Amino acid sequence: MIAAADFNITKIERSKLNDINLENIPFGKYMTDYMLEADYEDGEWKNVEIKPYQPLLMAPSLAAIHYGQAIFEGVKAYKNDAGEPYIFRPLDNFKRFNASAERMQMPTVPEEIFMEGMKQLVKLDANWIPEKVDHSLYIRPFMFSTDETIGVKPSDKYKFMIILSPTGPYYATPMRIYVEEQYVRAVPGGIGFAKAAGNYGGAMYATAQAKLKGYDQVLWTDAYEHKYVQECGTMNVIFIIGNTAITPDLESGTILKGVTRDSVITILKEMGLTVEERALNIDEVIEAHKAGTLKEVFGTGTAATISLIKELRYKDYVMEFDTATLQVAPKVKETLNNIRYGKVADTHGWMVKL
Ligand code: COI
Repeated sequence: MIAAADFNITKIERSKLNDINLENIPFGKYMTDYMLEADYEDGEWKNVEIKPYQPLLMAPSLAAIHYGQAIFEGVKAYKNDAGEPYIFRPLDNFKRFNASAERMQMPTVPEEIFMEGMKQLVKLDANWIPEKVDHSLYIRPFMFSTDETIGVKPSDKYKFMIILSPTGPYYATPMRIYVEEQYVRAVPGGIGFAKAAGNYGGAMYATAQAKLKGYDQVLWTDAYEHKYVQECGTMNVIFIIGNTAITPDLESGTILKGVTRDSVITILKEMGLTVEERALNIDEVIEAHKAGTLKEVFGTGTAATISLIKELRYKDYVMEFDTATLQVAPKVKETLNNIRYGKVADTHGWMVKL
């Protein structure tokens, strides 16, 4: 079994940070100085290395490119006012990562490599954590199959990696959302609950179509009736109807078990709202809008944190929200930020010190 003491660390000669302005950084553009790499071969994980960020050399027959055994996670690191780095709920991402691995017939990654590797990596790149509200260091663990064959089968070899990218807000302004009725993101029995690379590639065509119509993202509906709301773009979605927050439940296996979703549910309950995790029909949303009880709709995700929605369109029916007067989402975001930036006590044990 591999232990953190066995990780091989190669130091950089000069940090790229000297050449980068961490003000107004677009999501995913810059990578930090280091990356983590580990190999799965002969039934075990080996060669855990933290080394300078660099390109990979790969065979054109690399299995992942052809058949899509590829999964990932999104985690974030923050600095508190004293400049101390913390990671937000990484153990939850670790568990979800291995659930995705199992569904994709990939090996699970040991906790020591995922958690200790992440901590050591973030420690080395701690200078890259932006110290500005709504900014953070995005942590991207991922795994892909590395057999060099175009035979269709689960690979025998895999690579697990973690890369880091400083980031600002993902969706800077409130979004216009198109309720999707033709294309689907996930079906029961499929891989919707897994953070599989193909779920994101498969969503791009429908999203591009919605963008052509002037919308920022789609609100996915269920595969059978196109009635039950699922996720919004790459985020979980929460509806505030009256004093109740409603979000799709995880039972069907079509919804990602969002770590931010879970955190927001906890905060909403603490704010005194009733939270219902259940199937939500778009007709119920429209009825609530007509009755004046649909107050807010917002997305939650690691990259996006809390994303406000200013317009939701279903067929010809348009629901508009005045995002300047929202009562719930901005408060949830503020509470979450206060915990993440260490401004209030972390009573839930969400922040993990390096
Ligand atoms: C995340 O929120 O971490 C995501 O995975 C969304 C996206 C950047 C792919």
